Amino acid sequence: MSANQASIIAVMGASGSGKSTYIKRTLRKPKPARLMIWDPMQEYAEFGQVFDSMSLMVDMLGKTGRGKFAVVFQPAANEKARAKQFDVFCGIAMALGNLTLVAEELKFVTKPGSAPIRWSAVTMTGRHKGLRVIGASQRPASIDKDFLGNCTTIRTGRLAYPEDMKAVAKAMQVQESEIAALKPLEWIEKNMATGQKKAGKLTF
Ligand SMILES: Nc1ncnc2c1ncn2[C@@H]1O[C@H](COP(=O)(O)OP(=O)(O)OP(=O)(O)O)[C@@H](O)[C@H]1O
Ligand SMILES: [Mg+2]
Repeated sequence: MSANQASIIAVMGASGSGKSTYIKRTLRKPKPARLMIWDPMQEYAEFGQVFDSMSLMVDMLGKTGRGKFAVVFQPAANEKARAKQFDVFCGIAMALGNLTLVAEELKFVTKPGSAPIRWSAVTMTGRHKGLRVIGASQRPASIDKDFLGNCTTIRTGRLAYPEDMKAVAKAMQVQESEIAALKPLEWIEKNMATGQKKAGKLTF
C-alpha cells in the first residue's frame, strides 16, 4: 500500500449495530498483506496470529515485519495496563508502516481529551507511513476527538445515546435526526474528503 492510499475509517454504532461484522467483511476482501488487530473482545483470532504478550509479538514482528504478517493482539483487562499496551501497539504500527491497523472499542483506551501518544501519532501522521486505520467504538462521544476529526471516512450504525448521535453528526457534518432515525443494522457512511454519502443495511 502506498501512502496515498492511506485512510482512517471510523466505525461507530451501539452494541450489536454491526461494527465488527462490517470490519471482518472488509478484512476479507481481500485480506491485507500486513495487518495488526487490537482485539479487546477477543473475536478476531481467525485473522492472524494471536498474542497476549507484547514482547512475544515484537519478537515475531522483528523476524517478519519487513514482509507479510497478520497479528491479533488481545490486551490485558486491567485499564492501565491496557492503555500502555495500546500505546506500544500503535508505536509498533508506526515503526513498521504500510499496514492496516484495526482498533476495536476505542473507549477502552482513549478519552475525549486524552489518548495514548502513539495513537495520536497514528491518527495525525499515520497516513505518511502508509497506515490504513479502522477504529471502532460504541460510544463516539467518549473517545478522543482527534480521531473523528482526522477520519477520511466515518461510518455509523444505530447509536444508543443522544450525546453519541450529536458527536457523530458533528464529525460527519450531517443532521442529528439522520442518525437518530437509523434502525437496527442500518448504517450511513460519509467520505470526509469528497462529501459523498452512502447508506445501507447489513444483511446476513
Ligand atoms: N451470521 C449472523 N446471522 C445473523 N445475525 C448475525 C450474524 N452475525 C452477527 N449477527 C448479529 O448482527 C448484529 C451485529 O453484530 P456485531 O458483532 O457486528 O455488532 P457490533 O457493533 O460489533 O457490537 P459490539 O459493540 O457489541 O461489539 C448482532 O445483533 C449480531 O447478533
Ligand atoms: Mg463488535
